[in-house]
Amino acid sequence: MAFGARSSNLTEAALQARLTDAALLQVMRNGVGRMPAVTGLRDDEAKAIAAHVRSIRRP
Ligand code: HEM
Repeated sequence: MAFGARSSNLTEAALQARLTDAALLQVMRNGVGRMPAVTGLRDDEAKAIAAHVRSIRRP
């Protein structure tokens, strides 16, 4: 699959610092800019993904 838009590097400390947990969940639920909303996630799944994103942060 080819995407024309470049996505974000979720490991970036600056990006992670800018986004609260609530904002991260909102990006998943509603999309942002060129990112489409991610649909069909249960709350526990969205929270698990948010925790995973936090775990891949680079110092
Ligand atoms: C649950 C899965 C996903 C997570 C957790 C996630 C998370 C994020 C986050 C945190 C950002 C940065 C938002 C910001 O800078 O404020 C982002 C940007 C982006 N994501 Fe995702 N994303 C997911 C799925 C996807 C998918 C499926 C696509 C494409 C089909 C996608 C495409 C993009 C693009 C293109 C951007 C850049 C948006 C822009 O600046 O215009 N993401 N994503």
